[in-house]
Amino acid sequence: MAHPLDAIKAFHNAFRADMKLIDASALESARSEKKLTSTIERFRFFNEVLVWHAHGEEIAVFPAVEAVAPSVSEAYEKDHRGLDKAFDALNDAVSANDILATARATAAFKFHLDLHLAKEDSHLYRLVRERVSMADQGKAVGIMANQIPQERFPELVAWLYPLMDGNDREIMTSIWQMVMPPQAFDQAKLLIHKAIGDDWAELVRRIPDLA
Ligand SMILES: [Fe+2]
Repeated sequence: MAHPLDAIKAFHNAFRADMKLIDASALESARSEKKLTSTIERFRFFNEVLVWHAHGEEIAVFPAVEAVAPSVSEAYEKDHRGLDKAFDALNDAVSANDILATARATAAFKFHLDLHLAKEDSHLYRLVRERVSMADQGKAVGIMANQIPQERFPELVAWLYPLMDGNDREIMTSIWQMVMPPQAFDQAKLLIHKAIGDDWAELVRRIPDLA
């Protein structure tokens, strides 16, 4: 059965996958000295989701960690401010249409993001799994989910699902199925189907009652 923290891991994987696309596109432009492609524009929505996610961690996960492992989360909060700075640098470079500065900014952003997420997965969330009660883990993930403005949910699904592999799609969909009211989940199903197209059949194979 899917565990609430698996939803966070799935988001982390999606952030990694999107940043990989963004960085590859910036590098390609710099190498070929061709103008920035539309792929680079992904960084805007990527960062909106990253900010919702980081804010959710700061108000829900970090306080829970503080109670069971004092002074650990402050380092992660500093990382988050570093991510904000990485976004600002990238935003400035893209706005200035500076291809080389954009590639440098995506490389720096990717390096910091990957290291930060790796630390969260292997250290921070390990402490959460080991020391925070299952009820409080569920509560924290619920608060994080609420950081996504409801009216942006369709955009979120359209961003998230194509970035996830079959496993993470199964996990995320199963969790939503558990926590969403049936009507809301019916809406989510339509959005997921639209986002992944022909891959829907594979998701139904994994979760037969979607059909
Ligand atoms: Fe984080």
